[in-house]
Order: sequence, then C-alpha cells, then structure tokens
Amino acid sequence: MCGIVGYAGTESAGPIVYSGLENLDYRGYDSAGIALVDRELTVTKRSGEVSELSVPDRPNATCGIGHTRWSTHGPPTDANAHPHTSQNESVAVVHNGIIENYESLKGQLLKEGHEFSSDTDTEVIPHLLEREIEDGHDLLSALERVVDLLDGSYAIAAVRAGSDEIVATRHESPLVVGHGDEGAFLASDVTAFLDHTRDITYLEDGDIVTLEAGTVNVYHDGEIVDREIETVEWDADAAEKGGYEHYMRKEIHEQPTALRQTLSGRIDLERGDADLDIDFPQGYLESLEEIQLVACGTSYYASQYAAQLLEETVDVRATVEIASEYEFDGGRDPWRTLVIAVTQSGETADTLRAVRHAAEAGARTLAVTNTLGSTVTRETDDTAFIRAGPEISVAATKTFASQIATLALLTVAIGRERGTLSSADARDILENLRELPGAVQQVLDEEDAVVEAAREYRDSDAFFFVGRRFGYPVALEGALKLKEISYDHAEGFASGELKHGPLALVSKKTPVLAVLTAGADSNETMNNLTEAQTRGAPAIGAVSNGASVSSLDCALTVPIVGVFEPLIANVYFQLFAYHVANMKGRSIDKPRNLAKSVTVE
Ligand code: F6R
Repeated sequence: MCGIVGYAGTESAGPIVYSGLENLDYRGYDSAGIALVDRELTVTKRSGEVSELSVPDRPNATCGIGHTRWSTHGPPTDANAHPHTSQNESVAVVHNGIIENYESLKGQLLKEGHEFSSDTDTEVIPHLLEREIEDGHDLLSALERVVDLLDGSYAIAAVRAGSDEIVATRHESPLVVGHGDEGAFLASDVTAFLDHTRDITYLEDGDIVTLEAGTVNVYHDGEIVDREIETVEWDADAAEKGGYEHYMRKEIHEQPTALRQTLSGRIDLERGDADLDIDFPQGYLESLEEIQLVACGTSYYASQYAAQLLEETVDVRATVEIASEYEFDGGRDPWRTLVIAVTQSGETADTLRAVRHAAEAGARTLAVTNTLGSTVTRETDDTAFIRAGPEISVAATKTFASQIATLALLTVAIGRERGTLSSADARDILENLRELPGAVQQVLDEEDAVVEAAREYRDSDAFFFVGRRFGYPVALEGALKLKEISYDHAEGFASGELKHGPLALVSKKTPVLAVLTAGADSNETMNNLTEAQTRGAPAIGAVSNGASVSSLDCALTVPIVGVFEPLIANVYFQLFAYHVANMKGRSIDKPRNLAKSVTVE
C-alpha cells in the first residue's frame, strides 16, 4: 500500500523523511523516493527497497516529502516511483490513491505542450500545479484549484522549490499531521513519525493543510478551520495495525477502501461497461466457448462466486478447478478456452502449475492477482490487478472481496463484448458494485452484534455454514475462515445438501450460519435451516433487509446490493471467525501450520 511522509521544521529533513519511509516498510511497497526543498528541489527515487534509496544530498534542506509506492498504474520502475515533478521541475508531488480522470487531464496537458516521463496517473498533478503557479497562484491556492479538476480518491502532498512549505490534501485516503517540537510532520499512517511525536491531527476529506516550521494551518472550503489534536497512546506495533489488535481485523475493516480502489476508474456507467485495461485479441471473446478459473483456498471460493456470475449473467460456460487437480482436457479447443488464475499472492505453486499446464496446451491465460511483479503476472498473457493493498494476515479477507469485484468487472466487460449482456443489465451490476464499499461499511458498523453472537456460540462442538447459488461459496469461505483461525471444526455445505447426510451431525451444540440474501435462494435455504433448527441447532442468518427473521436465533442485517449480498454476508462471517478465535486467544494473524504464500505443490 502506498505511503506518504512529510516534514517541515528546523532539522535536516532528509534523515527524518527517510526514517519515516523505513517505518512504513511493513505496509509493503515496490518503489520509494524523497524530494527535499531549499532554494532548489532535489529528488531521488527508485524501484526496490527503501534501503537501496539514497537521501538527496541537501543537509540544509528542512522541508521534504517521501513516498513508498505500491504500483497501480504502470510497473514498478524508477520512472514510475514518486515523487513526480512538474515540467520545469519546480514542483514535486507524492500521491496515494487513484486519479480516475488522469487520461483526459493528461491529454489536455499534452496538447498544451507538457511532456511526461512516467506511466502514472499521479504525474498529471505536478503539471497541473505548475500551470496554476505560472498563472500567479501560490502553492496553496494552486492545490485548491487543482483538486477541483481531480476525480478519484487521493492523499496528495506537494512541495515547491524556494519554499519551506508542504501543502497537502485528502479525499477518501488517509492523511494525518504530527505536531512535534522540531517541526510539523505529515503521513498517511502515524507509524511514520511516532518516534518524533504522538500529538496528531487526523485530516478530514476536503481539508487542505499547509505545514511550515512551527505552523500548521488546516483549510476547508477556503477557510481556516480548527481540527482537534489527539495524543496517540499506541505503541509502534499497535500503530502498524492501525490501532487494531490484529492485522486480520484491520484488513476486514479496510474492505470499503480496498473495494473503492478495486473499482476506481474501471466503471463506465454511461455506456454500461467496465474496463480492466486488458487487450484481448480481436474476436477472441466472441469466439470463447469456456472460461476456466483455477485457484486454491479462498481464491477458489472467490472463483466459484465469479463462475456463477459469468454463467448467470453473460451466458458463457464457466468452470472452476482446484488448481492442484487441474489438467487441461485435450478435448477442449485451447483457442476457445480462457484460463484465469485467481491468486492473491501470485506465487501459489499449485496455481502456477495449472497456468503452465494451460499455456503449454495453447490456451490463453489471465492472472487476477493482488501482487504486482509476482510470478503469475510474468507467466500469463494478461493481468488484472485486484488493488486490495497488501494483506499481511495469513487468513485472506479483503482480497476475497476485491477478487470478486474484479471478476465481476471482467464479467461485465466479457458480456458487453460478446453482446450477451445488455447495457441496462450491465448498469445494474455496476451500480450494485458501486454500492459495495458503503454496504460493507454498514456491516462493519454492526460488529457489536457479531461479538455478541461469538460470545454466545464460541464453545460449540462444531459450526456449519450453508448457502445456495452465490451463498454456497460464501458458506465454504465462512467455514474455511473459522477453521483456520479458531481451529474449531467448521464445514460449509450447499444448503440443500444438509438433509443428505450432514444433518446427522446437527445438535444444539452445532450452530448453523446461513446466507439468507438475494442471490442465495433465501426461501429454500430458510427451509433447510429450519430443518436443522428443529433438531436443536441454533440458527444464525445473514439476512437481506426486509426478510422475515423472527424464527432466527440471531439475525444479522445485510444491505441490498443484488447478487453481491452474499459477499456482504461474508463480512459477518469474517467478523464471527475473528471474534470466536480472539476470544479463544488464538494466534490470529499466523495460525498454526499455515503460511501466507504456499510455494510448494
Ligand atoms: C485462506 C487463505 C488460503 C489462500 C490460498 C491461495 O484464508 O488465505 O486458502 O487463499 O492459499 O492463495 P493465493 O490466493 O495467494 O493463491
């Protein structure tokens, strides 16, 4: 995940900014850079580790910004690393997030004679700032004017040659100011400057802040505003987890942001289309007979969800294969079979084996992954990044949601290209996708209800998860999450299968958690749940608004987002697994016997 650091004070800025970048190391990144200003602007940046980055040789510079980049637009090269500079190299900018309309802004700037040296969306910002400064604006009013031109989510910090001031702003991306004795600090994450100060101000969306030695001013809508100064009590370890006790809970709570990043700039509501920037050969999608998704574990369940969506909405045969079992069947026409490897890490040996197998047979391959530069991206024909940001907890959470959102965008793009999805139906899917971050947030706000349920049922003999259609992979994923971090026995079933055997296991010590939402045939599942309940099992349901819940022992409300409601129900299951495991004192982020990236077959 990208990180921003800034310092304006009385000390030499280089070492302070550099150590701030080192403190952000845990977030994961692929490139880093620093800009220092005194009368001149000096920038050093490169792909690779912060330890490989040299601090610009400006010991007298007392103002600077730094950045760790997790690539979204353009590969992790030296040129794409931040800070980015303006045409005359007098302004430098670091940026987290995505500028959705950068292509049109860049097009306009190119027409005006600006030249660009990177593939990033960020580079338009220093060019736009320079244009405003040339029109007579200072850096503050230049930024105020430039943010009016930007669509997307961002935290931006800018410096200018000849000035000791940082100007920064945020919109849907965190930014925090630190108030220290030796100056003012800026960061996307307090961990960056906790060694210097614990007195901080969280900026709000739309705030623009100026930092100089001894002075911090926050502006909103052109007026200076008072923002509270809080004292952080966390230690560095807790701060890395954003104040959460475990990365897993932090990552569950990051899902609205992760989903916004996944979707950003990829939805065209007007045309009813999605763009993942994949160039399939002319006529390829139209002639496709089958899409095979290959994956393991949580990525496999995300693939099952996507296959259901592909089959139901765009009428293409979609199959899901456990990667370790995958063989490319000689009876298939390789040209008409697209093989999609779904893998968070991009390094899972079983998935790589499957992809190699498919490629050898002549099939076109596509990676859907979170990890830039991973092996799978080098071995497939195309890649779609899920942009969830680094996931540190072994148990996958936010990446499951972002994988499904990415595959849903792909589904729309394929359906539109093949002519099997109308623009109106595509728009329905896209509108539901756009509602996802807010819907996940509503569920996160209900966490106390899940804590209650976890407290009530944590000592059960076993836990069963059931669902139909889109609810079925969610039932499997809910059970996987619980078993891997709590070590309790948990199983997921297609709800209709309960009566074909598993019902024998049901007792009052085996709660059944059910997906009772749109896209999950909730009436039928409710019947199956009642069969378990009449045999004593406590019934816990993740239920869409308006459904009848009176017979449930515990009802958790899911906001309305069509076929993505089971995905939202999954957030309740993630929280349930987390709290059961936490109450049992389990090693949540590193469960026994498991690894984040499984690089053996
Ligand atoms: C479960 C989990 C694993 C992974 C699986 C595939 O929480 O994390 O089941 O989903 O090992 O990993 P990737 O997606 O990296 O290929």
